[in-house]
Amino acid sequence: MRTLIVGVIGLVVGALCTLILMNSLRQGTAYPNGVMAVMGAQMKGLDQSLKQNRCAATDLSPRLQTLRHVSNDLEPAFLPTQDDERFIQYASDLRAALDAAVSTPPADCAAARVVLDRVSNGCQACHRDFKG
Ligand code: HEC
Repeated sequence: MRTLIVGVIGLVVGALCTLILMNSLRQGTAYPNGVMAVMGAQMKGLDQSLKQNRCAATDLSPRLQTLRHVSNDLEPAFLPTQDDERFIQYASDLRAALDAAVSTPPADCAAARVVLDRVSNGCQACHRDFKG
């Protein structure tokens, strides 16, 4: 009987510890996942605008601005990494591409495609090295 009770207590404590651990792991990834989810959604939106031939500044600027603002959160969301210096470099490169896009909004869809490709290269460069 005693062994049974101790066994049950052990199981309950084990289950609770697993729950606590899983919860803290989830909280640890919510921030980086959130930053990337917003960036992914904005890039998708931009891509759709271009496909629909809607390339006025009013179509593109809000999304480019959101991307620029959220990209400030790359370092706080992901650091420390296995190579912080390189991560910060990729993050800065992306911000530079977005700064250029925000300060000179593309005049037409052809120009917008060039801008988006540049931004997208900034995403991919970092993903190549840091996305597992
Ligand atoms: C400086 C580094 C860096 C930059 C720049 C960056 N990302 Fe990421 N991204 C990551 C890392 C690291 C992961 C993997 C996260 C993980 O596995 O928890 C990731 C994952 C993602 C994911 C998760 C889904 C998937 O494909 O697995 C999306 C979507 C995403 N990024 C979109 C973007 C977009 C869009 C941009 C550019 C506008 C961008 N990222 C720029 C580092 C970056």
